[in-house]
Amino acid sequence: MSVAPRGGNGKVTIPEILSRKSLSSDVSHQPKTKITCLTAYDFPTARLLDEAAVDILLVGDSVGMVVLGYDSTLPVTFDEILHHTRAVRRGTQRALVVADMPYGSFHVTIEESVRNAVRLVKEGGAEAVKIEGGERRIELIARLVEAEIPVMGHVGLTPQSIHALGGFHVQGKTADAAQQLERDACAVESAGAFSVVLESVPRDLAARITEKLRIPTIGIGAGPECDGQVLVIHDLLGLTQGHKPKFARQYVDLSSEISRAVASYCHDVRSGDFPSDAESFHSTAALRDYLRGSALAKQRT
Ligand code: KIV
Repeated sequence: MSVAPRGGNGKVTIPEILSRKSLSSDVSHQPKTKITCLTAYDFPTARLLDEAAVDILLVGDSVGMVVLGYDSTLPVTFDEILHHTRAVRRGTQRALVVADMPYGSFHVTIEESVRNAVRLVKEGGAEAVKIEGGERRIELIARLVEAEIPVMGHVGLTPQSIHALGGFHVQGKTADAAQQLERDACAVESAGAFSVVLESVPRDLAARITEKLRIPTIGIGAGPECDGQVLVIHDLLGLTQGHKPKFARQYVDLSSEISRAVASYCHDVRSGDFPSDAESFHSTAALRDYLRGSALAKQRT
């Protein structure tokens, strides 16, 4: 299941992602190309995003809400993430595949959490895992890194903490909350993560954290100063129903396109316009003889 990166073939690797960090100490003062990250949950979408040169495909636990119909990410199981990671792996050649550790898969013991992460790499083909949480995850992140599993952190609005946070709200809005968020991001870095997602964080605070860290920040609702951006692919494609956060820019309205196409199909079937003769298979001379023969025999009886 795993893909071994070979130098020079364009494969996005962890060192490549790290090299995309904009550091003020960089003497070249060349702005770095921003990191692009999108969620993907299945083979055809992974293939399209990979061919479009997206850097990181995240098999997010958002799969629970946008694909499986749950009302939060909490019910998503480890087996569901493993299943979707395997599909994304099969569709991906160039991008870095990161699998989200779902709620419950890293909350019991460190040993069980490492075992689960190892399965995502070994059986799912993930090249890294994503873990929600800051200071509380220092030991786990360090143990995963020790087990050769690259970790993407995730701080700010962490949807797995939805009950504790009391809803999907912007985080870090008071001085105390901002200081905690900075501590969380620094903790994730010092534990050995190669990048960190900043979700729903005021732009200025995200810019300050980005300036402070030596690993890339990947923003979602965290403003343009982050080293990269991530969106849920269903939001970008206009496939999400109901409320969409203001940062979720929609690039196409695929829901309307799909509804139009399906309505046309139903109309064509009902009117007899589909399938046409050109869309049908035709009989051979032998089959025609057989059909004629059995029709004659039927007439005689
Ligand atoms: O699950 C997910 O899609 C995520 C991204 C929004 C960062 O965690």
